[in-house]
Amino acid sequence: MFSRKRRVLANAFNVEEYRQAARQVLPAGIFDYLDGGSEDEVTLRRNRTAFDSWGLMPSWGPVTGPDTATTVLGRPSALPLTLTPTGATRLFHPEGEHAVARAAEGAGIPYGLAGLSTVPMETIAADFPRLDRWFNMGLAPDSPARRNKLDRCLAAGYQTLIVGVDTRALGSRERDLRNGFTAPPALTLSTVADIARRPAWWANFLRADGISFPNLDPAGQSSSMVTPSMWQQILGHSDASSGWDELESLRAAWPGKIVLKGCVNPDDVARAALIGLDAVQLSNHGGRQLDHMLSPMDVLQESRQRVGDGIEIIVDSGIRRGSDVVKALALGADACSIGRPYLYGLVAAGSAGVSRILEIFGDELRRTMTLVGVSTISELKARGPEVIRDVRNAARSTGAVMNS
Ligand SMILES: Cc1cc2nc3c(=O)[nH]c(=O)nc-3n(C[C@H](O)[C@H](O)[C@H](O)COP(=O)(O)O)c2cc1C
Repeated sequence: MFSRKRRVLANAFNVEEYRQAARQVLPAGIFDYLDGGSEDEVTLRRNRTAFDSWGLMPSWGPVTGPDTATTVLGRPSALPLTLTPTGATRLFHPEGEHAVARAAEGAGIPYGLAGLSTVPMETIAADFPRLDRWFNMGLAPDSPARRNKLDRCLAAGYQTLIVGVDTRALGSRERDLRNGFTAPPALTLSTVADIARRPAWWANFLRADGISFPNLDPAGQSSSMVTPSMWQQILGHSDASSGWDELESLRAAWPGKIVLKGCVNPDDVARAALIGLDAVQLSNHGGRQLDHMLSPMDVLQESRQRVGDGIEIIVDSGIRRGSDVVKALALGADACSIGRPYLYGLVAAGSAGVSRILEIFGDELRRTMTLVGVSTISELKARGPEVIRDVRNAARSTGAVMNS
């Protein structure tokens, strides 16, 4: 087990190689749950092609540094990168959210703890006091339960709420249906076959405490195992009847920052700015919810044009390389956020794997900035339009000239 971890840390050089390593470790049904998207996975694929449609245009001149430090929501961050919430992290590694929080704190970047985390928000706060902690919740009307949650967040020193609005219904993840995926995994013929193929993962999973979701319990005490039917309820928990009124009442009730996560419509970005939210995280949930949904990169420029500097814009879904971060910042983002990449690192090598993924992003970002010809994140944002081109349009116009 440990030699495998050392081997991965020594030999995996990019996010895709950590993905391959994660595939070797996890039971197939759990890997598919992590990796897959909804329905035909068109959006999952678009999240990569959307980045490939943009090309970088270096300009010649001196570069110093480069310096990747920036601010996200007014607080210093060593990279223009955050770790986006992913629920039930202990499914992937017995250290779960602790391993991720340790890596984020070490790297000096924010971590969004999922509402469906498998440890209480208070434990992460107590164990990682220097971490820039965000807390993820769905949208719900004002109620004693919501007030209790906000009080817990405040008392535990969470600065930022990251409010997901893209789970009005649960996306149909057909790999999970096909695999009969349940969490915790039920003992069926195919799980027994999986145990034979992945004994190390199963040994860890069975040794670890049962998976539970203590942030859903008002007192943060829940310790019971979650049954498959509870899991279904939890995944579909968001209240589809909530809307802008609930967001405005949350804005009035919460003294910290609020990030609206899960839209790609520039009208929504403009409205979020209008009601005083602090950031929008453009996201299609990593292609796991509405299939055929646009990718953040398709709408980023227009979103930025609509709101000027009035609100921060964070981009997630499909970010796998430092060059993706450069492209997003050049098109108007303030920061990017990753989900699966840090989970691949976690599965393959625990907290050290998450740290390695963050180092890879840092290295790739610095190298890309140097080669493009920018020294700082603020310079990259200011000179963005100079360094990026839509290569689909370029190809079309070249084709037109050649054909004329
Ligand atoms: C396994 C998994 C669990 C997730 N759980 C949550 C969640 O609890 N809340 C949430 O807002 N988003 C959740 N997401 C979506 C991520 O926050 C994020 O939008 C997405 O992973 C970004 O795309 P990427 O994985 O390509 O980086 C989850 C994603 C994955 C892969």
